[in-house]
Amino acid sequence: MKTLLRFAGGLVLLVLLVLGVGYFWASRAAASTFDRTITTHEVDFPVPYPAPVMAGAAEGEAAEGSLAGAEEDGVDPLAAAVARGEHLVRARYACADCHGEDFSGGVMMDAMPVARAFGPNLTGGEGSPVASFSPADWDRAVRHGVGGDGRPLIMPSEDFQRMSDQELSDIVAYINSFPAVDNETEPLTLGPIGKFLIARGALRPSADGVDHDEAHEPYPPSAAPTEVFGAHLAAACVGCHKEDYTGGEIGGDPSWPPAANLTAAGPVADMSLDDFSSILRTGVRPDGTELLEPMTYVVPLARRMTDVEVEALYRFFRSLPARETDD
Ligand code: HEC
Ligand code: HEC
Repeated sequence: MKTLLRFAGGLVLLVLLVLGVGYFWASRAAASTFDRTITTHEVDFPVPYPAPVMAGAAEGEAAEGSLAGAEEDGVDPLAAAVARGEHLVRARYACADCHGEDFSGGVMMDAMPVARAFGPNLTGGEGSPVASFSPADWDRAVRHGVGGDGRPLIMPSEDFQRMSDQELSDIVAYINSFPAVDNETEPLTLGPIGKFLIARGALRPSADGVDHDEAHEPYPPSAAPTEVFGAHLAAACVGCHKEDYTGGEIGGDPSWPPAANLTAAGPVADMSLDDFSSILRTGVRPDGTELLEPMTYVVPLARRMTDVEVEALYRFFRSLPARETDD
């Protein structure tokens, strides 16, 4: 009996020791993942962004593009930029889901023991990291996942990296149209599971999935039901569906299912445009089954997409040859 007790006690000690060493290792790995400075290219862009030069437009003063032309037409360039930015935020990039409806700060996830992550205040009020942000800082945070202090952020910038300069500028114009609010959110806290996910490489800061020297397009492709425009829109889905759209494990919350394969090897191959549109916009498949989290987060965005955007996405996915999921 005594030996058995001693054996059990030793086993408990051993388990505690293994857990302790494991936790120490995971904490170190998580700290070294986030305590780094990442350098990116420096870009600059105006807010509001000038309208594109129309093909065949007259040479001369109008060749700049441009603001002058837009004003002549009676359109206020800032109001036009804010309206475009609103659509981008509400139908494509989900900034308000994590930063709050009025951008004064919000919750990305409150899921201990995985992590607690808050989207900071973007209004420029007290406690907002963006009060003195230049366009280069906005580029670094949004399209590269690198904060004003040079450290990697936990925000999903892989989905934002292909945003054009005009789109980012429009989003900044829209966010800046909200009044400054004083609010400071808590910094990121990683729980033990979050630390293990990072140590195992299952969860990585988006900065590690972005090319920090690649130039950004000045303008998005024109909005039409084309594969080219669809490819631009689908770039906002790569964080989960992967660069080659074969889907698979997402990382993050361990209860999430793998993301669907969106190439011809997956369910889109059997969908009509109507099916695709209704699945994205209602979250329910024609057979009555419901989409699971986190794909459900995309549904309110898709509901605000235009029919042209949904059709462009559909055409793009239908153009992808079959490829099996890697993992
Ligand atoms: C899924 C949630 C999520 C979405 C969507 C999201 N963010 Fe964030 N964002 C965060 C979190 C969380 C942080 C703080 C990150 C950290 O501390 O690691 C952050 C940080 C930032 C920062 C501050 C960088 C700094 O220097 O502190 C800016 C600017 C920003 N986000 C802008 C945006 C914009 C613009 C969009 C939409 C295009 C957006 N975010 C979409 C979660 C999100
Ligand atoms: C936050 C992660 C995430 C993002 C972002 C995301 N998806 Fe998904 N998606 C998933 C997951 C997970 C599934 C599998 C859901 C299920 O099994 O119910 C899925 C499934 C799908 C399906 C298959 C539905 C079916 O009938 O099986 C389509 C189509 C789809 N996504 C399209 C998109 C498009 C288009 C975008 C970008 C606009 C996008 N997704 C962005 C995670 C995501």
